[in-house]
Amino acid sequence: MDLDKLRVNGGRLRHSLEEMAKIGATPAGGVQRLACSDEDGRARDLFVSWLEEIDCTVTVDAMGNIFGRYEGANPALDPVLSGSHIDSQPKGGRFDGILGVMGPLEVLRTLHENGVRPERPIVIVDWTNEEGSRFAPAMVASGVWAGALDLQWAYDRTDINGIKQGDELERIGYKGSVPCESWPVHAYYELHIEQGPRLEATGNIIGAPKGVLCLHWYDIHLEGQANQVGPTPMEGRHDALVAAAEMIVAVRALPASMGGNMVATVGEIHNYPNSRNIIPDGVHFTIDIRSWDDQLALDAFEKLRGQMLGIAEEHGCPIRIEETWKVEHAPFDRGLVQRLLEVGRDLGYPTLRMVSGAGHDASYVNQLAPSAMIFVPSIGGRSHVEVEETSWEDCEAGANALLHCLLRSASEG
Ligand code: GLV
Ligand code: MN
Ligand code: MN
Repeated sequence: MDLDKLRVNGGRLRHSLEEMAKIGATPAGGVQRLACSDEDGRARDLFVSWLEEIDCTVTVDAMGNIFGRYEGANPALDPVLSGSHIDSQPKGGRFDGILGVMGPLEVLRTLHENGVRPERPIVIVDWTNEEGSRFAPAMVASGVWAGALDLQWAYDRTDINGIKQGDELERIGYKGSVPCESWPVHAYYELHIEQGPRLEATGNIIGAPKGVLCLHWYDIHLEGQANQVGPTPMEGRHDALVAAAEMIVAVRALPASMGGNMVATVGEIHNYPNSRNIIPDGVHFTIDIRSWDDQLALDAFEKLRGQMLGIAEEHGCPIRIEETWKVEHAPFDRGLVQRLLEVGRDLGYPTLRMVSGAGHDASYVNQLAPSAMIFVPSIGGRSHVEVEETSWEDCEAGANALLHCLLRSASEG
């Protein structure tokens, strides 16, 4: 058959996404499928059953990464890999991550029903805990697979209730027996929603990111002195929450003051004992800094560190700064990005060169194998929210772009 004319089944892709969206569905139309939760487990079971229907060989590694291998005409050749993640943010959307797992599944269903057997094997992957919102850091399992993070350290990460990631993985039945370590990959493609406004604003259907920004995560712990709010004078208080508030404002001001391309965010805060009539004596908050320029992000944090030490001193609130996680910016393989631009042109999809501000497992895979990502528009540029939306036509377009990128890479000898 003429492979250039091959297209995925958009209706079937939509159905898969809709079935997955039922697992952990939230009342406002999103999903909550936190890493290693019961919902994550149920969605994995469904994914595995779908892989088995198309004769994929399924393996689960020690970090719970699920691989489905569609055999190539020449099994000895290094496979082409494609995937993303099944887990979601708390009150997250129906497309982040899961599109990049259902997309390659739809590609393999299309190959399977048409009896297409590419030269190289094609492997789909669901990477465990990409989001990092239940267990920090993000992209932890692709990080272990790539040799950048330690397996035991990953197992020992705890959630807000002190539950260990490794124990939860075991509980849901996905602590696999295969070692979590990399193997040679010919090319890696990750299909994903853009999670920003540019594709929609410019009328493009496909985004071809040149890479992913660096991500630096910090955890800040402040100690105050608790006391009754009524009788305690305003002077001489050691209010950990007020100190944290001033620090948060400093984080907000950081990108503009550094004068480069950078974003900085405080997204999580825990206040103790969190009672309206007790002066807070403990605060824990997180900082997320991203830039294409790793050094700029590091310099920014050093500036912020000085500011935070000053604020802590002023309030008499001891501070502990934890450098939780760093991943360098990931410049993707130019040949694969170029291939996507060509596929976009051949399929008639307007395609835009861009950069990814969101973190992705592709960052770690890129450290070992030629990698690229395929973006499709996010309606209103919204994501990590229940109203996250991408049109079904654009999901289909993204899967078609993935199909032809995979076919071209898998036909290389
Ligand atoms: C992952 O979703 C991230 O960009 O934080
Ligand atoms: Mn994602
Ligand atoms: Mn996400």
